[in-house]
Amino acid sequence: MKILVLHGPNLNLLGTREPEIYGSLTLGDIDTKLLELGKELGAELKCFQSNHEGALIDALHDAQMWADGALFNPGGYTHTSIALRDAISAIGIPVIEVHLSNVYAREEFRHVSMISAVCKGKIVGFGWRSYWLGLRAVIDLLTDEAAAK
Ligand code: DQA
Repeated sequence: MKILVLHGPNLNLLGTREPEIYGSLTLGDIDTKLLELGKELGAELKCFQSNHEGALIDALHDAQMWADGALFNPGGYTHTSIALRDAISAIGIPVIEVHLSNVYAREEFRHVSMISAVCKGKIVGFGWRSYWLGLRAVIDLLTDEAAAK
């Protein structure tokens, strides 16, 4: 099983970026935890971060060639990007939307997600554990799908 872990803009600054909202782990720390969990659950992960919308779209297109599913935190693009939504719709693999913070307890503009409707599901508000839960969920889902075939 192969999973893309995709991180959007400003998430490269985790650790120092508003730690009271996003926690004190760096992106490297989070990826390390996910790689360990992936190994434990028999999944191969590729982790990628970009601050550029086009690079995130390219990574999603590319995932269609090799990944069975994806975890995606689009950062601020969540609330604005129809192009990312279209890319998720286009690739036809299950994508789980992930946010560290509880976006519904924050500014109103963060309550809107352009991508939720085309994602398999969404996990918000558990800090780095949102990714951890998302990874477990997508692996479980893919395992069930494979067993049903
Ligand atoms: C975020 C929430 C977004 O509103 C924000 O723009 C981010 C991070 C989160 O993980 O909580 O960059 O996606």
